[in-house]
This record gives sequence, structure tokens and C-alpha cells, in this order.
Amino acid sequence: MSAAVEPCLRLSGLRRLSGEVTVNGAKNAALPCMAAALLSDEPSRIRRVPEIEDVQRLIDILRAVGARAEFADGEVVVTPGGECGGTPPDELAAALRASFLVMGPLLARSGRASCGAPGGDVIGARPIDVHIAGFRALGATVETVGGRTIAEAPRGLSGATIVLDYPSVLGTENLLLAAVLAEGRTRIVNAAMEPEITCLAEMLVRMGAKITGAGQHTITIDGVSRLSGADHELIPDRIETGTLLIAAAATRGDVCLRGVRPDHNEALLAKLAEIGVEIRREQDQLDVCVDHMAELQATNLQALPYPGFATDLQAPITALLTQVEGTSIVHERVFENRMQHLDELRKFGANIIAGGAAPVIIGPTPLSAALVRGTDIRATAALIVAALAAEGESRVYGINHLARGYADLPGQLRALGADIEQLPTVDTLNS
Ligand code: UD1
Repeated sequence: MSAAVEPCLRLSGLRRLSGEVTVNGAKNAALPCMAAALLSDEPSRIRRVPEIEDVQRLIDILRAVGARAEFADGEVVVTPGGECGGTPPDELAAALRASFLVMGPLLARSGRASCGAPGGDVIGARPIDVHIAGFRALGATVETVGGRTIAEAPRGLSGATIVLDYPSVLGTENLLLAAVLAEGRTRIVNAAMEPEITCLAEMLVRMGAKITGAGQHTITIDGVSRLSGADHELIPDRIETGTLLIAAAATRGDVCLRGVRPDHNEALLAKLAEIGVEIRREQDQLDVCVDHMAELQATNLQALPYPGFATDLQAPITALLTQVEGTSIVHERVFENRMQHLDELRKFGANIIAGGAAPVIIGPTPLSAALVRGTDIRATAALIVAALAAEGESRVYGINHLARGYADLPGQLRALGADIEQLPTVDTLNS
């Protein structure tokens, strides 16, 4: 049996993916909805929660600020009680970006919130100025002391018109979470429009909040004085959906994805159609089938805020574009440092000309097995896509990143016929 010094995936490529899998609930909807539960004294139940490390980390954070939180059988139950408050330990805050989402609810509920610098993937500067400007517009004083952000509004928050400098996803969510208990009307202008924001707003409305316009550029919130608990099911993960579609296309597969929302993946579906990947869509199902003789064509794309092409699928589709005929340009316009997968893709033999945030991919190039390392969640997924399309046995390191965002991508791929396994580490073998 082979082993590795640190956890890694072993993959043998050039196997056509085929079969059916069901997609998990959305990571990026689970996190804000769990934070929303802090807004009430009553318990909230969130269903279809993916088993990923970021969920576990946020549970630890919710507990650290005084809530009870349990995760079993795909459901998270959060019971905040009356005494929630305090600061999450800095190392927990630094473990994920969404840790900062406790700020909005705690500020709204208790008039005070503080949190250390949020962590997450290292894909750019990732400032929090949009959140801070919004809290100030709602009447809070905000200062940074020793790396922690402290927001205070002892007399409560007051509704305001907040114009976001950038349609930040977590920024919009944090301000929505703060505004639902503010006095009067709040308008969030230039809001992010991602489906995860609509999912959060739906949970808040179930809790008794008054919100219109979620999923559009301007969200209007009429503050209420208290919220109840809610029972809420998450939307399917559109990034997991996209990754599986891209993996299927890269292996010229025949795959059916169940439990999906095709309308949340319009930009990807349009690009795949342009490349020549045929996809049949039903209300909650996508069937992708690529003939092994089909000639796939190059395309250009820009990663943008929703409904544009998702930045979280930029790295995975780059791996696919190494397998299509012609020259593609992929322009990353959301994060300034999200190209760390390119050097790793070149180790498989990919022909990619560096172009800053807009590399040029020349295809098709036959890929051959490589030993590579993912540096963030989606970069690691991209390397898995490349390994599936490469001849021979690859090893993909950095799978701790993968576990943060995908419930079981290797297991789903195995169910579709991929030859993929996590290698035991030398330590595990010796113990
Ligand atoms: C969320 C997603 C992440 C996705 C990203 C963009 C979660 C948990 N994560 O991250 O998977 O890749 O949306 O779709 O939902 N910005 C500012 N000021 C701010 C905040 C952000 O300038 O206060 C800039 C960032 O530097 C970046 C851009 O806005 O260039 C996008 O960031 P943002 O939308 O905030 O991403 P996240 O919410 O962190």
C-alpha cells in the first residue's frame, strides 16, 4: 500500500465519469444562516447543511459567543439563549472568513460586538471596509484595537441608506443581519445579488424580519423589535454543482446531478454550452454528456459578482480549458491574487501564458500525471479536475483546503467511477 507524509489524494486519470450524484447544501448559505440564528432567543434549525470544516469552525465560534450549537444528520440546531455576546477567540476568527458574520447579529441584539481579523483563503487582500462603513451608517461607532474590530451602539441601531462601495457578499450579509433589528427602514444599495443572500433573507423572513429585494441591487429592510427561531432548508451548493459539471466535461463524462438549481448556474451553463458541452436541464437536475469524439472549443470569460461567472469556478474551469481546442482567456475580476493554481496546472503539462489576472490558456494539451499542491479550496478542486484529465497517477496535496468547502468531492467522484483515494499518512501507518 502506498502512503504519504501528509494527507493527499491519489488519482488515476483518463477515466470517463459516469453515473448520478446528489449535490450537498451550499457552504456559503450555511454560514450566514447559522449566524442569523443568533438574532433570536429561540432555537433555529438549519437543514441540508454540508459536512465541511468551515461549518464546524463556525459552530465553535457560535459556542464561544454563548450559543448552544449542534450538528447531526445534516442539520444544525442553534439555541442562542438570552446571554449571547463576547468576542470569539482570535484563532477561531482567523480560521475562516465568515467568522466576521457574528458581528451583525451581536451588534443588533446587544449593542456591542467584537471580532478578530477574519481569515479564509489567501486569494487577495480581503478588506472589511464595506462591513465597517455599513455598521457606522446604522449608527454604530467602530474602532480597531489590537487587530480586533469593536462595534458599539448602546442605544441600538437606526435604519439608514447604505451605499456599498463594492457588492461584497459577506458585507451585504452582515449588514442585512444587523439591519433586521434596527429601528426604521434600511436600504442596502449596490448589494451583492448571490443566491446565498436570497437564502439568508428567506430564513430571516421566516424568523419574522421584513425584507424585500434580496437577490436584487437594492435590499429594503424594515426593522422589527424581535425575531423568533426558524426552520430553514439551504439551497444546493452551486459551486459544488459547477465543479462536478466541469469535472464531467473534462473527462468527457455522462453524469446526472440531482438536487440542483440550474438557474443558479446560468453563467457557467452558458459558457459550457459555448465550449460545446451539452447539458440537459430540468427543474432540479442537470445531465451532462460529452461524446469522447466531440471537439470542444475555446472561450473567453470574466469572473464577476453574481450573476456573472463565479470567481469560485474560475480555477476549475481553467483546468477544463486546457482540454479544449484553441486559445482561451480567463479574466479574474473579483480577487486580485487568485491565480496560484496556474503553476501547478503547468506541472501537468498545461500550456498557460501568464497574463496577471488574465492568463491565456492554449489547448488542447495532453496532460500527464503530476505531484501538485492546492493553496485554497477552489485551487485544490481545479487540480483534481486536471488530475482526472491526466494520464497516469497524480498526487494532490493541500486537501485540508478542500475539506473546508466540499463535503465529499473525492467520494462523489469515486461514485462516478473515478479512481481516487486519500492515501494514509506515514504516521497513520506506524501508529
Ligand atoms: C464570498 C464567498 C467566497 C466567494 C466570494 C466572491 C462566503 C463565505 N465566501 O466571500 O466563496 O469567492 O464571496 O463571490 O460566502 N471587498 C472589499 N471590501 C470589503 C469586502 C470585500 O473591497 O469590505 C472586495 C474584496 O477585496 C474582493 C471583493 O470585494 O475583491 C469580493 O469580496 P466579497 O464579495 O466580500 O467576498 P467574500 O464575501 O469574502
